[in-house]
Amino acid sequence: MRFCRTGFFLLYCKQRDLKKEPESVSINLTPHNIPQDSWKHEAGTAAAQLIEEGMVVGLGSGSTAAYFIYALAQRLQSGLSIVGAVPSSTATAELAANLGIPLTDLDIHPVLDIDIDGADEIDPQLNLIKGGGGALLREKVVAYASRRFVVIADETKLVPQLGQRMPLPVEVIPFAETPVRLRLEALGASVQMRLLNGAPYHTDNGNVILDCSFPGGIIAPVDLEAQIRSIVGVVATGLFLGITEQAIIGGPGGVRSIGPVS
Ligand code: 5RP
Repeated sequence: MRFCRTGFFLLYCKQRDLKKEPESVSINLTPHNIPQDSWKHEAGTAAAQLIEEGMVVGLGSGSTAAYFIYALAQRLQSGLSIVGAVPSSTATAELAANLGIPLTDLDIHPVLDIDIDGADEIDPQLNLIKGGGGALLREKVVAYASRRFVVIADETKLVPQLGQRMPLPVEVIPFAETPVRLRLEALGASVQMRLLNGAPYHTDNGNVILDCSFPGGIIAPVDLEAQIRSIVGVVATGLFLGITEQAIIGGPGGVRSIGPVS
């Protein structure tokens, strides 16, 4: 899973720094991903400054969100107090709990002050493709329950048009996989079942993911979202449209903020 890539491993090593000096570790870094990871780190750290006393905070999933969670934990250790945080995946819940972040849930706090999460693609209107790490459904629930949704990413995630580089993840109940696949293909998608170790990948909700590539990318995201959501058996798509208030982007020139976009 993408959550387990190098960036997250680096973060895991840093988590251990919170409590004690790490023992010698072997990290498999390639020259290609060093700058991208540091840009994610800078974006996640900058986003932690948005968190204020007494907030209820949504915690995204993925390596960039993990950098934010680590920076938030450091702020809490320095004296900031929040009411609680709602994790968008079991992996994030585990990470946050290990770092001492107080967790809550949507039954206790159905409205959040802010949600901070990563993305796989960000277009100029701050529409997103998410779900590369498989957490799209809970990420979407948490995002829509939040008064503010802020995306954090390195600048390789900025694209002129969604879907040209990344397939669109669609979460589907396993019972409906084949009819949903046929309907997605009828919409022009080339469909791949997401696999983990050669077997179907299952989300935290027990569903499967169909990764959908559209030749030429996604030209009309709002229409496509409506068409896919109308297929019975689809639980959620990775399209996050018109919800992002601000993007915090790390890159070679430092961190910059984009938005709000009208
Ligand atoms: C997980 C997600 C992630 O936010 C997205 O895949 C970005 O991940 P990363 O920050 O590791 O690049 O949507 O479902």
